[in-house]
Amino acid sequence: MLNIYDIKTFEVPTKLVSGVGSLKKLPELMLEQNINHPLVVTDQGIREAGLLQKVEELLNENNYNYYIYDKVKANPDVETVDKGYEEFSKNNCDGLIALGGGSSIDTAKGIGVLSKHGGSIIDYECGKKPLKKRITPLIAIPTTAGTGSEGTMWAVITDHDREVKYNVGGPLLAPQIALVDPKLHLSLPSNLTAGTGMDALCHAIECYTSHFAQPLTDSVALLAIEYAAKYLRRAVANGEDLEARYYMAEAATLAGISYGSESAGAVHAMTQTLGGIKPEIPHGEAVGALLGPVMLFNWMGEPEKFKRVATALGKNVRGLSTRDGALAAIDAVYELADDIGIPTLQELGVKEEDIPKLAEAAEKDPQTIGNPRDINCECYEEIYRYTFKLGE
Ligand SMILES: [Fe+2]
Repeated sequence: MLNIYDIKTFEVPTKLVSGVGSLKKLPELMLEQNINHPLVVTDQGIREAGLLQKVEELLNENNYNYYIYDKVKANPDVETVDKGYEEFSKNNCDGLIALGGGSSIDTAKGIGVLSKHGGSIIDYECGKKPLKKRITPLIAIPTTAGTGSEGTMWAVITDHDREVKYNVGGPLLAPQIALVDPKLHLSLPSNLTAGTGMDALCHAIECYTSHFAQPLTDSVALLAIEYAAKYLRRAVANGEDLEARYYMAEAATLAGISYGSESAGAVHAMTQTLGGIKPEIPHGEAVGALLGPVMLFNWMGEPEKFKRVATALGKNVRGLSTRDGALAAIDAVYELADDIGIPTLQELGVKEEDIPKLAEAAEKDPQTIGNPRDINCECYEEIYRYTFKLGE
C-alpha cells in the first residue's frame, strides 16, 4: 500500500526523444553528448533485420568513426559485458549507442559503468561496489516495446556460475538519452511483440500496485496500462500498424519510467530468477504466462487499485463490487494473453520438478519486498503449480 509517511523521490535522469522517424535525430544527439567515436552495442538479429544498417547509414553520412559490438545475446551475462568493455577500450571509444531490446541496452549500461569505474561488471552487483560517476554518454535506441530499459536506472546481468540474474543500478546508470522511434519496431515478429508487450504491461501493473507506489509513478503506469490494452493486440496482429507500434513504444517507455526508479513485484521476482536458472526462456513470454496467476494471488492486497487496473484495461466495472472489479482486471489479462498467443509454462520449457527450486529462488529476489500481498516460498510454489495446471 502507498505509504504516505514514506518520503519519496522520483528522478528521470534520461532525456526522452520519441516519435515516428526520430532516429534521424541521432547525429544531433551525439553532438549534444560530445560523442565522436561510439561503440554501437547490438546483436545479430538486429543486424539481420536491417536495423543496424539504418544506424550505420546515419553515422556514415555524418562521417563518424564507429565500432560495432554485435555479440549481445538474450539475458546478457558478465562475460558479454566485460568483453564489450574490452572492445570499447581497445578502440578508444568515447560514447555508446545501444540498438536492440533490453539485452543490448543493459549490456551498454554495463559497459558504461566499466568505462568509468574499471573492473568487471560482477563487482557492481546490487550496489556491492557503488557507482561514483555517471556512465559514459549512452544513447539507447530500443527496437522492442518491452523492457523500457531505455528509461530505467537498472541493468539486469546474468551470472551463469551461480545461476542468478542480478541488478546493477541507480541514477548514475540511466542512459543520457532514450531515442524511441516506433518505425524500428515494424519488423518485430508477432511472438516477440506479444511477449515484450506483456512485459511492458506487467511493469506498469506491478509498479502501480506495489508498496513503492507514489502518485507520479501511478499516473504514468495507468496510461501505460491503457495503451497496452488498446494497442498490443493490433501490434501483434499487424506488425506494420505504425499507430499501434507508436503507442506500444510509448507504453513500454512509460512503464519503464514507472517501475524503473523503484522495483517491480512477484512476477518479476519469479521471472528474473527463472531467467537465471533457465536463461533460454524468453523473459516477456514467461511474464505473460505468470501475470494473471500472480494478480489472482495479489488482488486482495490492493483491491481498489486492481479495480482501477480493470478500468485501464478496458473493462466496464460500473456497478461492480470492489472484489468483482478487481477480478475483472485478472480476466482482462487472461483474455489478452490468450488472444496474443502467450505460451504456457510447459511450452516455455518449465518442468514440474523445477518448481520447488524456482519458488525458493523467487522468495530470495529483492523484488518480493514491494509485492502488494505478503508472499513467501510456499506462496510462490502455489502460484507456479496453479500456472502449471492452467497449461495442462
Ligand atoms: Fe520485465
